[in-house]
Amino acid sequence: MNDMSAVPAVPDAVPGVASRDDNAAGMPGVLVVDHPLVQHKVTLVRSEETTTDNFRRLVREISQLLTYEATRDLAMETISIRTPIAPTQSRILSGKKLCLVSILRAGNGFIDGMLELLPAARVGHIGLYRDPETLEPIEYYFKMPEDIHERMVIVVDPMLATGNSAIAALNRLKEAGVTTMKYVCLIASRPGLRALRAAHPEVGIVTAAIDETLNEHGYIVPGLGDAGDRLYGTR
Ligand code: URA
Repeated sequence: MNDMSAVPAVPDAVPGVASRDDNAAGMPGVLVVDHPLVQHKVTLVRSEETTTDNFRRLVREISQLLTYEATRDLAMETISIRTPIAPTQSRILSGKKLCLVSILRAGNGFIDGMLELLPAARVGHIGLYRDPETLEPIEYYFKMPEDIHERMVIVVDPMLATGNSAIAALNRLKEAGVTTMKYVCLIASRPGLRALRAAHPEVGIVTAAIDETLNEHGYIVPGLGDAGDRLYGTR
């Protein structure tokens, strides 16, 4: 059952996300990308039989499909161009420039694929580790473009588990002056989603799946294991 009581009153209008609330998330501002290609690839990344190289490739592919949805509401303008045949009016991206922010280290598994679609985007990195006792995030690295406060930021981390790291990352970016953000992940836990929505209700969330629970170590169940270890073959 979806307990909405923990989430403060949230305007339905999280740009580009709220219009598609009638999907599996059941939460305003959360988009679950239920496209068959995405769901097929999510099944493959979850499987423990998937090798490191295939895991990396699949995460990259999923990141691109999620980016397609996360950028659906980017501002556009119409300009005049000439094709080899005739002059015409055509649309291009306008508005705020983009910055992708990777929550280290697993977020990096998303970045290269996203940059293929958004080649002009800048990239920032936030390093947070989870205190194994409290599961609270502790920051060890923060490097952003100087004009981060002028950019639309897409924060990426494949796994939204407790939500603590995501909340800390968004807090830190707001301190740096960022006003427009989205959060993109591969698998979100429902408790993590609730926590993130409660802390940052104006930030739209795009995910490929929602899992109901976490285990005592803060891993998403069933999830896919440790995304960093699976991306980099470190376990
Ligand atoms: N981080 C991961 O890599 N996996 C989880 O399940 C939770 C946090």
